[in-house]
Amino acid sequence: GRRTRYLYLFQGFWCQPAEIQAITFLQNHFEAKDSDVVVATIPKSGTTWLKGLTFAIANRNKFSPSSKNHPLILSNPHHLVPFFEYTVYGSHHDQLEEEEAPPDPRLFGTHLPFHAMSSSIKTSGCKIIYICRNPFDTFVSSWIFIDKIKPKSLPSLTLEEAFDMYCKGIIGFGPSWDHMLRYWNESKERPNKVLFLKYEDLKEDTNNHLKRIAQFLGCPFSLEEEERGEIESIIKLCSFKNMKELEVNKTGTFGRNFENKYLFRKAEIGDWVNHLSPSMVERLSKIIDEKFAGSGLSFKASP
Ligand code: PPS
Repeated sequence: GRRTRYLYLFQGFWCQPAEIQAITFLQNHFEAKDSDVVVATIPKSGTTWLKGLTFAIANRNKFSPSSKNHPLILSNPHHLVPFFEYTVYGSHHDQLEEEEAPPDPRLFGTHLPFHAMSSSIKTSGCKIIYICRNPFDTFVSSWIFIDKIKPKSLPSLTLEEAFDMYCKGIIGFGPSWDHMLRYWNESKERPNKVLFLKYEDLKEDTNNHLKRIAQFLGCPFSLEEEERGEIESIIKLCSFKNMKELEVNKTGTFGRNFENKYLFRKAEIGDWVNHLSPSMVERLSKIIDEKFAGSGLSFKASP
């Protein structure tokens, strides 16, 4: 069907009714600037981390990454890099006084699939950084998160129910494979427009990826910056361990009043082994092989 108890199929992707108004507003009214940067993800793929890194890199001349009162120490990344779909951002901007409007580059986040973004995002010079994560871990992370943030009045989904829905493409902003493949293809066609990253790669070689992000944003690290440890300071500032322990992330909320603390769970690669049965792994592996065949994009179940 086109709806479940939790999600509606809207413009070819699954979302919650509460998000539709902001999405439609964005599509009709948001005017992207060439200097804008959009962090795009499917939920639970490393959004919080990449928002933090992007903010720290883009603003490093304004806020030293080693400062004790860096905005990322005082605020959650989702406040500094707001989601389009949880803020009616276009209208909000129109109402802001000039001095209150966010300075350039404006940083935004989104879970929207590429096709559903406002046309000015696609046609302007604004840049998109996309991060994805292997579907096994993304599914497990989502299932656990959704159970924590869902209204108490709704029953929990069992692992089996949620997994079956996920395999059918029914997950917020999914089908996940369509989401990833479209950004992947865009990044191949327009490498200056879309930078495509994987959570696993970012974790494995954070330093090199920070250089790639800075280069992509047009603000590469200078030799002098590298020598004084600017990259290492940003890595530390945005590390899971550091962010999880911040006061602001132990309290406070983001998006539609979700508790910040639920954004920080384990941040491990391969935690799915503790949840998925062999037959689940077999089913999802088969779907992944089929969906990504010939694309050049691949994910392995590797604990
Ligand atoms: S959301 O709600 O879509 O913004 O969530 P998202 O941030 O995409 O995904 C949450 C998972 O990312 C882990 N996480 C991090 N990993 C590395 N570094 C940092 N700083 C970081 N912050 C959050 C978080 O623990 C979730 O993964 P799991 O596997 O559930 O632990």
